[in-house]
Amino acid sequence: MIAAKPQKKIILAIETSCDETAASVLSLSHDKQWPNTTTLSSIVKSQIQLHSKFGGVVPEAAARAHVKNILPVTQKALSTAHCSLPTIDYIAVTVGPGLIPSLIVGAEFAKALSLATGKPLIPVNHMLGHLYSPLGQLSNIKSQSSNVFPMISLIVSGGHTMLVLMKNIRDYQVLGETVDDAAGEAFDKVAKLLKLPYPGGPEVNKLAMKARHPVEFPRPMINAKNYNFSFSGLKTAVLYHLRDHPQTPTAEICAGFQDAAVDVLATKTLRAVKEYKAKSVSLSGGVAANQMLRNSLRLKTKDFGLNFFVPPSNLCTDNAEMMGIAAAFMLHNGYKPKNYKTIKADPNLSL
Ligand code: KG4
Ligand code: ZN
Repeated sequence: MIAAKPQKKIILAIETSCDETAASVLSLSHDKQWPNTTTLSSIVKSQIQLHSKFGGVVPEAAARAHVKNILPVTQKALSTAHCSLPTIDYIAVTVGPGLIPSLIVGAEFAKALSLATGKPLIPVNHMLGHLYSPLGQLSNIKSQSSNVFPMISLIVSGGHTMLVLMKNIRDYQVLGETVDDAAGEAFDKVAKLLKLPYPGGPEVNKLAMKARHPVEFPRPMINAKNYNFSFSGLKTAVLYHLRDHPQTPTAEICAGFQDAAVDVLATKTLRAVKEYKAKSVSLSGGVAANQMLRNSLRLKTKDFGLNFFVPPSNLCTDNAEMMGIAAAFMLHNGYKPKNYKTIKADPNLSL
């Protein structure tokens, strides 16, 4: 008997939670074990230029830019994928957490599309997008999902720092979070102290690579008997160092700060691996684009004989492709898409 060919579904995903207007089209073929997604297009319109003169994201300006960009970005995602609205099966949209003026633009736009086309909506938690983003490319490992779970997932972005235990493809538990600044926020604030351009994370990353004698900074909460993080004390240590040793080259401060942040993140991730007998580690969120963090976790997981999953850098920072991947996992896990009337943006949505 010839097995029936898996039926393909098309997802249009929209993301506007902060300062990137993004749309992506993915095709999803149902498979009993793993949701196989193929990305047909992924368009991201960055607002970096707009916000850089303010040194950070201005919510009202971000929302206005989303309003201007959302239609052309969505049109480009559809045309690049050689799709049109009638050929879409689902519309996925980020509904939180994020900046409420930004979230509303994407959510209301998706609801209007749903009303006009009759296509069902999938409201997606932005953090679920980061969580599932490293798993989108794993179709080749699906037959070995016993090598994936339990998985420890480190999510490090501009707004969040989380350590998550994924017990299987659908069950996860947040083990710890930051008690103050998120990792990306700390990179950005340190960059601001050093008068580096916005966004600071990539600048700190670049300069740190040039350093030869990194400054020694404290590792907050590295020995705490929990999986929470704290980065505001580290940022203050940089501030005091600058006050007391103003001649220190910027690169040595960047490297010292980065060493300390990466050490805390990697040490706690590996401790969770041991406690929960994890078979793999995943890394996601904007700070996952950091070379030192990627390399450190890659080497450490190799020493432990673990699988390590990290998306390419363009899938680490905010994008709609990861929201489409998360929607595919939600469908695979039995989620029933919603009518547009029930969808509402929630800036404080938790995982
Ligand atoms: O995930 P993301 O794009 O947005 C949020 O959901 O917050 O993360 C943005 C954060 C920013 O703080 C940015 O500075 C940081 O990710 N980031 C980096 C690097 N690239 C982006 N931090 C350190 N090293 C990088 N290479
Ligand atoms: Zn994000």
